[in-house]
Amino acid sequence: CFVFVPTLHTCPKECRCPPNFPRAVYCDNKGLTSVPKIPPHTWYLYLQNNLIEVLSADALRNATQLRWLNLNRNKITSEGLEEGVLNSMSHLVHLYMDDNLLSSVPSPLPATLEHLRLSRNRISKIPAGVFIGLDKLNLLDLQGNKLMDDAVTEVSLKGLNNLVQINLAKNQLTSMPLGLPPTTTQLFLDGNNIEKIPVGYFKGLPKVAFLRLNHNKLGSSGVPKNVFNVSSILELQLSHNQLTEVPLIPSGLEHLHLDHNKIKSVSGSNVCPVSVDAVDDSVNDSVPRLRYLRLDGNEIKPPIPRDVILCFRHLRSIVI
Ligand SMILES: *[C@@H]1O[C@H](CO)[C@@H](O)[C@H](O)[C@H]1NC(C)=O
Ligand SMILES: *[C@@H]1O[C@H](CO)[C@@H](O)[C@H](O)[C@H]1NC(C)=O
Ligand SMILES: *[C@@H]1O[C@H](CO)[C@@H](O)[C@H](O)[C@H]1NC(C)=O
Repeated sequence: CFVFVPTLHTCPKECRCPPNFPRAVYCDNKGLTSVPKIPPHTWYLYLQNNLIEVLSADALRNATQLRWLNLNRNKITSEGLEEGVLNSMSHLVHLYMDDNLLSSVPSPLPATLEHLRLSRNRISKIPAGVFIGLDKLNLLDLQGNKLMDDAVTEVSLKGLNNLVQINLAKNQLTSMPLGLPPTTTQLFLDGNNIEKIPVGYFKGLPKVAFLRLNHNKLGSSGVPKNVFNVSSILELQLSHNQLTEVPLIPSGLEHLHLDHNKIKSVSGSNVCPVSVDAVDDSVNDSVPRLRYLRLDGNEIKPPIPRDVILCFRHLRSIVI
């Protein structure tokens, strides 16, 4: 006689496999030093907060159906990533490897990836062509690594045809990264050593909407007059730099952070994107859209000039 044996009993003894979520295997926070035997039906594998140093092709041989792999907070080095282990997961969509010991972006990666999180490793290298074929990748998080200017180039970023968000905060960049794709919407560069922005830099990024450059070394001489006058930008964060003047902003900008710079004065004539006299409530498009403005930590003395208020009719909050 034939007895049907469900595969659920193959849950690794170190892990939890909730019956109401049969494709998930939870092996997080177990002090594991290696990857347990993963059942072949697994889609979601949680291995975060362990002591895993090596990801061997053998251990994950049967895990070809994985969609989501969380390896955050382990001890995986680039040497410990066995050749081919990641791209053999031909359905993988989310790969999280924050807080490990990687020195290079893992390669090769599966072409199905949409989110790749690699923050707080020791990454100084992006292998040339590692993203070629990764047409679905839309989020790349590389914050808190050791990337220098020569690592982030047109050659290393080639293939990111659908990237939406890139986080390069807290690296060692001294100039704006080159080779970002025109699909980029969110660009986070806080906590680097960027001193200047090339003229027309954002012309190559027609969709950029959220731009964060807090905690860099930008002075007003390093910011070309029109560089931020890009109609797609909704949020511009330039806190903790060395700006002495308010940069020119686009009319559609909604959030502007200029706190902790060296700005001495602000007036309607230097901050309003249109002529203050031309701001007319009855002509909808003439009113700049700024809603939130931070100017604290500068050398500006209150009160806020009346023409600033007259310019920004939509302003909900101003910190000075
Ligand atoms: C993979 O599956 C085969 C066949 O079911 C099994 O014998 C083997 O132990 C599995 N290996 C791992 C690492 O899970
Ligand atoms: C800013 O850009 C807008 C739209 O492209 C343009 O009309 C405006 O003249 C620019 N402002 C300045 C001061 O160059
Ligand atoms: C002004 O324009 C915005 C966006 O174009 C629109 O959503 C809003 O309804 C308009 N407001 C008025 C009062 O026409």
